[in-house]
Amino acid sequence: KPEFRVLPNAAEIASAVAAHIAQTLKAKPATTLGLATGNTFVPIYAALIDLYRQNGFSFAEAASFNLDEYVGLPKNHPASFRAYMRQRLFDHVDLPAERAMLPETEGDLAADCAAYEAAIAARGGIDLQLLGIGRNGHIGFNEPGSPFDSRTRVVELAQSTIEANKGDFPPGELPPSSAVTMGIGTIVDAREIVLVATGANKAAALTRAFNAPKDVDCPASALQDHPHVIIYCDPAALPA
Ligand code: GLP
Repeated sequence: KPEFRVLPNAAEIASAVAAHIAQTLKAKPATTLGLATGNTFVPIYAALIDLYRQNGFSFAEAASFNLDEYVGLPKNHPASFRAYMRQRLFDHVDLPAERAMLPETEGDLAADCAAYEAAIAARGGIDLQLLGIGRNGHIGFNEPGSPFDSRTRVVELAQSTIEANKGDFPPGELPPSSAVTMGIGTIVDAREIVLVATGANKAAALTRAFNAPKDVDCPASALQDHPHVIIYCDPAALPA
């Protein structure tokens, strides 16, 4: 059921995904977006800002909820997902700051996780959820083994994820070992899901997610039953 849109390279994927997001905002200005971070989304947000500057669509009525955030980083740490989002999107568009949400990672985390779910529900749910995919098939920070009905919660990161994300941190500094992430159940509640994967190191994850039986060992395979999933990928990432 998931629809694959294969484009030649990351630049063309960025343009197509940015156009997809812009189209959603034009059709419904009060769209609730689910946002993702990671290297895959760097060119996508850049293309989205370009389109925004040319095009006359607006985020003024929109809201956004990011998938995840590290636990234990100081508020303005450059490798936090909040810093990523400010630098790559929020500082450049008219999305009101009070509606640009990321999971809280200080204080009473259980209460904050419940409040995040309630805030998403109060907006009427997520219209368009953007997703990358980890090499082990993770979505958000839902590592292999995460229950398909999981909600926003504190999770421990896989060693392979910590290794993969090391490059985002200053030399000698390791990523935190835990994070707050939307659950798989939170993600699949979105009305539409756009998953983006580029490069040969994502092909195995896409194969396990979409060309194999659903399995909690591959979190992205939970998307198989979703009625409206579009996967933008390049030929190198195409599942076998
Ligand atoms: C990270 C994020 C995910 C992201 C994935 C892939 O750990 N929590 O949301 O999709 O890993 O990242 P990248 O696009 O850099 O390969």
